[in-house]
Amino acid sequence: MTLISSVASGKIILTGEYAVVFGYPGIATPVSCATIISYTNSKEPLTITFRGIKPTERGEEYVRRVVELCEKEARKTFGGSLIIDNSIPLGKGMGSSTALVISVCRTLLGTDCEEAAKRIEDTVNPGNSGLDFAVIWRNEPVFFKKSTDPKSITLPNDLLTGAVLIDSGTPGETTPELVAWMKTREAEVHDALAQIGSCTERLAADGDLATIVREHHQAQLKLGVVTPRAGSLIANIQAAGGAAKVLGAGARTGGGGMILALGCDPKVIARISAEALFPCFPL
Ligand code: PMV
Repeated sequence: MTLISSVASGKIILTGEYAVVFGYPGIATPVSCATIISYTNSKEPLTITFRGIKPTERGEEYVRRVVELCEKEARKTFGGSLIIDNSIPLGKGMGSSTALVISVCRTLLGTDCEEAAKRIEDTVNPGNSGLDFAVIWRNEPVFFKKSTDPKSITLPNDLLTGAVLIDSGTPGETTPELVAWMKTREAEVHDALAQIGSCTERLAADGDLATIVREHHQAQLKLGVVTPRAGSLIANIQAAGGAAKVLGAGARTGGGGMILALGCDPKVIARISAEALFPCFPL
């Protein structure tokens, strides 16, 4: 019996949601929550145990699908015990589904499995741009543009000092569903996508993050992926002098996903938001 352990971090997208799918650049950074896997192999049928933030039934199916795809890649069946200890909020724009793919692949296929892991990511998260995969695989801040090699980017150390994450609930749609919807609206949302691309260029050129985040949020509103409740929360943060944006794909219905808020005292944000606040620690 051998014990193998692997880890993959969550991420936040500073700029680039949806724009990256259409070839504009984006910037993302890993953050200090993670999926940690421990696997002990044996000839017994595989058991999967969930610890930490536990998935729904649909999430458990997703994990089993990833394991099956690893078995196809490896042309063998994996037995034994797989323990998944997760601290990445699920389905809220922080990269939980890609971190799961990468950590399971590294565990079952070995650390040198980038191409196989990418194939599995494209199967279970169809339509993805590759940004989540790039930042989580590399575990460092990246400047990403589709069809080119992701580049490491050095962000100022204090970029996210005082920033908090606000959990505005689980979106009613999955990221692949929202991406597929956005692809049907490319002409209609062209200007918003270009605006998001220009936010990335300005951040890469050391622009002021709070100013960029305010403009980025306006573009996400135009894309139609900010729920009314998330939108009014963000408007209140802006009125208090801060800046905020939805992280990841956002939502059309249900909860609004995770919101990044910065530029004003976290105590002020706590007064505005009834939701739980998490400090945001980039790696
Ligand atoms: O919801 P998340 O964390 O998977 O982020 C999605 C970001 C999108 O740009 C909307 C999609 C993508 O694949 O880049």
